[in-house]
Amino acid sequence: MLSGKRIILGVTGGIAAYKAAFLLREFQKAGAEVRVTMTPSATRFVGTETFASLSRHDVAVEVFPESSSADAWTRHIEWGEWADLFVIAPCTANTLGKIVHGFSDNMLTSTVLAARCPILICPTMDGGMYQAPATQQNLQKVAEFGYHILEPEEGYLASGLEGKGRLPGPQTILKKAETLIVSKKKEDKLLSGKSVLVTAGPTREHIDPVRFISNPSTGKMGFAMAEAAQRLGADVTLIHGPVQLVPPSGVETIEIETAEQLYEKVREYATADVVIMSAAVSDFAPTDYHHQKVKKDNASSEIKLKSTPDILSWLGGQRRNGQVLIGFAMETENLVENATRKLNEKNIDWIVANSLSENDSGFGVDTNTVLLLGNGEKQEISGSKREVARILLDKIFAH
Ligand code: CTP
Repeated sequence: MLSGKRIILGVTGGIAAYKAAFLLREFQKAGAEVRVTMTPSATRFVGTETFASLSRHDVAVEVFPESSSADAWTRHIEWGEWADLFVIAPCTANTLGKIVHGFSDNMLTSTVLAARCPILICPTMDGGMYQAPATQQNLQKVAEFGYHILEPEEGYLASGLEGKGRLPGPQTILKKAETLIVSKKKEDKLLSGKSVLVTAGPTREHIDPVRFISNPSTGKMGFAMAEAAQRLGADVTLIHGPVQLVPPSGVETIEIETAEQLYEKVREYATADVVIMSAAVSDFAPTDYHHQKVKKDNASSEIKLKSTPDILSWLGGQRRNGQVLIGFAMETENLVENATRKLNEKNIDWIVANSLSENDSGFGVDTNTVLLLGNGEKQEISGSKREVARILLDKIFAH
């Protein structure tokens, strides 16, 4: 499966650095071409010559190499473009921390920033370092960046302690690498040439300049859907309400605040090949907007509401042939019945039903458990919102 594939092997300064030599051999046996970058401290554990002889390429340590050729200092860019996969094994807590903060102080960290391929991080460390809150938070961060993590194994560590922190064996890393290469191959094709419109986050319906009606949506699921569609090759537009998230790179983003503004923007992009309505649209807005803050002495105990447009129903009513419409349903009871009713009434192809009663799903959290309904099927999917987004699109479009 790795035949003809190009892998960068990043080696950082831990005792498991010597195991990377065996991993390199496994990659080669599987047919891959391998280049090695080592951090300066990794070279204290294993000499660059070992990896240079095995890989039959120069080993890169510093961004500024010894050679003075004019293009030598841009080789991290060239490597980043060259690779099909970047595996960092072992990855120390120090390099992990640098990756999280975007450091580019050596060839390895610079190439991480330049890389256009999947990145697999194999965190390997001793004692309590793996469990330390900073390490755990950094792991969560790199997962949010979309990098892949292969968890360390439990066992006897170099310090003499027992614990979680060992580098998994070369076969385990090889298998993970193969999975990433295969899913990248699929990713490259599935939605290429398609336009995808994604809506995300809450809307706000203002009563006056300081008060509004809204909901706890953070936009995480919608942003994950946009990112997943973009990775599958789609041309993605993301329209979103007020959120605290960084938009995925390569995605056109449009900010809105109210349901009415969302409706207006969706109409502009309504010809997209695929529309994913993950926004938590407010169903009601106050009938009157007060231009000045309503003082409590003048406030009435009632707020008159009017319905907002049901955007997804509008899309379902004017859909064109071949267009795929995907809705989300957040329910507190009768999940399947309510979601199925929305699927039919809104005239859409798929609905992703979310139950608020589960702890690990719904608003704000990074994980989700959903039911995908459509095409006469009902499938449960759970994992991080990123994983769920990928699986949803795989299931919907790999038909
Ligand atoms: N939706 C929409 N416009 C609205 C309300 C909802 O386009 N005014 C979309 C949502 O983005 C979602 C789907 O419709 O994809 C279902 O939203 P949900 O709030 O679960 O359902 P509602 O249709 O609002 O029905 P109810 O509030 O009765 O559950």
